[in-house]
Amino acid sequence: MAEKLELNKHIEFLEPPEGAETLRPKPVNLFEDNPINLSVLEGLKGRSILGVKDFKREEVIELAKLAAVLENFEIAPYHIMDGKIVTTAFFEASTRTRLSFESAVLRLDGKVLSIPEGGVTGVRKGESLEDIGEMFNAYCDMVIMRHTETDSAERVRRNLRVPLINAGNGSGEHPTQSLADWYALLKWRPELASPDPSKKSKRLCLGILGTPGSMRAVKSFLLMSLMFQDRISRVVVISQMADPFGEDLVAELKKAGIRYEVTNDMQNHVAELDVIYMNSIAFLGDSYKNLDSEYQLNKDSDLKENAVILHPLARLSELDCSLDNTAHNLYFSQAHGAVFVRQALLISISGRLNRLPKEIPTVK
Ligand code: CP
Repeated sequence: MAEKLELNKHIEFLEPPEGAETLRPKPVNLFEDNPINLSVLEGLKGRSILGVKDFKREEVIELAKLAAVLENFEIAPYHIMDGKIVTTAFFEASTRTRLSFESAVLRLDGKVLSIPEGGVTGVRKGESLEDIGEMFNAYCDMVIMRHTETDSAERVRRNLRVPLINAGNGSGEHPTQSLADWYALLKWRPELASPDPSKKSKRLCLGILGTPGSMRAVKSFLLMSLMFQDRISRVVVISQMADPFGEDLVAELKKAGIRYEVTNDMQNHVAELDVIYMNSIAFLGDSYKNLDSEYQLNKDSDLKENAVILHPLARLSELDCSLDNTAHNLYFSQAHGAVFVRQALLISISGRLNRLPKEIPTVK
């Protein structure tokens, strides 16, 4: 079916160094028995993504399957984003999100207008986000924005008529991070994406080390995980805070009918967890601080044999480098895969699915 497509020339760089056991699940796992349903992705054309609730579960699955195709095959010759201009407006520091979005656009032959920090814009002279949003309409076809303030995405969108992707808004959300998180999980356990009930995998026990109420990546991961509630046996949140959720998230957990518990005792729970999602950075207005730093994992931690660790990065002391070369490390696959799942989203929002090569495995 896809034999005419060449393999991605960059894929060898994503392999772990020799001797490392680091997990790099193969993208082909995700689409060889489960072709892409492009009609689901067509519904994303022209849409803005401000939070996880802007996605449906079937869209997350189809985006992950398209990402796997983009990761596996050489897609550059198809110039899919040719003629499109994307603005990456980052009013807060980033290594992965801005560069992976920009890499995603450039490798699809689109063009990028990059704001690497707010100080190079009129914000420095007191310009409002609402006015900047009006300007973006003239400059580009899509805006990807990160900002320290939780209301920033709503403010810039007031006058924006091109699609907006929220790349992190204060302690709000980081919806494309959770796409990268779930892309890594679905490659690792492709049966989680299968429509075939006989392929239902053993349900996962998810652990979260951190505070979903104030850590945007953790919050978005939890919200996306609730979409897969039938594949999850229990959520264990390990935090020093008695209420690490806040009211809204508790309501979401109850609505999903998922079993969850909160504990401050990592040692007694870590051995039960199939997936451990960790983070250390909590956003407080335009500053951030390291929370729960007493919770640290290293290669000697009492992890289940097949447990995997996810971390949106950057890491501090909570995730020791001694885990990097172990089979618990899904976090590098998670970070690398972000380029491809963001490509899948950009292609869908731009209405450029029709430029994909005909040979890719799709539902006919
Ligand atoms: N995962 C993530 O958001 O990383 P950056 O802050 O480097 O973009």
